[in-house]
Amino acid sequence: MLTEGKPGQGTTPAGISDEQQAARWVRGMFGSIAPRYDLLNHLLSLNIDRYWRARTVQRVSSVLARPSARVLDLCCGTGDLMLALQARSGAVVYGSDCCHPMLVAAHHKVEQRRVRSALFEADALRLPVADASVDLITIAFGFRNLSNYQQGLRELMRVLSPGGLTAILEFSTPPNPVLSRLYDFYSRSILPTIGGWISGSKEAYSYLPESVRKFPGAEDLAKQMRDAGFTNVRFERMTAGIVALHLGERPG
Ligand SMILES: C[S@@+](CC[C@H](N)C(=O)[O-])C[C@H]1O[C@@H](n2cnc3c(N)ncnc32)[C@H](O)[C@@H]1O
Repeated sequence: MLTEGKPGQGTTPAGISDEQQAARWVRGMFGSIAPRYDLLNHLLSLNIDRYWRARTVQRVSSVLARPSARVLDLCCGTGDLMLALQARSGAVVYGSDCCHPMLVAAHHKVEQRRVRSALFEADALRLPVADASVDLITIAFGFRNLSNYQQGLRELMRVLSPGGLTAILEFSTPPNPVLSRLYDFYSRSILPTIGGWISGSKEAYSYLPESVRKFPGAEDLAKQMRDAGFTNVRFERMTAGIVALHLGERPG
């Protein structure tokens, strides 16, 4: 699948052309659905989202096994991946997001579970994190929402330590045309109806299939990662290609 728009362009919500406006729109949209985000995530994915995150944790477990590993879950939202990483790591796992209400939900979970995770509010395109200071960066269903994908990859590369690993879990397009059409129908018709009904924001759940449609296909994203300087780039599709997990390393 080809990327629409200019190279380096990120998400383009309907009617918005400017990067800063897009970033503001995305933050506001996630703020409006934060209270119902987890419920809808599990409902609309039939709970398969738990498996996608578990598989991601499994794929990065060699870094988590290192007691001194510095781990950052970007676009952590309500914290599910961050907590799954923390359960397998001896070190503190950091979570970061630009949307305050999502971080508040994540903070409640951290408190309830009494885990060591630490949260901070930041834009993934401009992280308040030192160069080469993180050994593992994960980003689940967040990368697609960035207003500039090339800048996002550059920022990942900047903060990763030499030899560090990044894992991007994101929606993708099923390569099988029949499944692709079925999924298209589900995501354009059923998902916005249920999502809108429960969250009160049909707009947010109409944005989801549109943003997936405009997002680079799995091969294209792998190429963008290589172009940004990542090595050993590989990806695996999950659930017939609805989701893809990309892994890449900073040359060490
Ligand atoms: C679909 S949610 C995913 C949350 C979580 N990672 C998960 O697996 O459920 C996307 C998250 O990315 C965050 N996000 C979007 N753009 C961002 C940016 N530029 N910087 C930081 N966070 C961002 C949103 O606020 C939202 O919490």
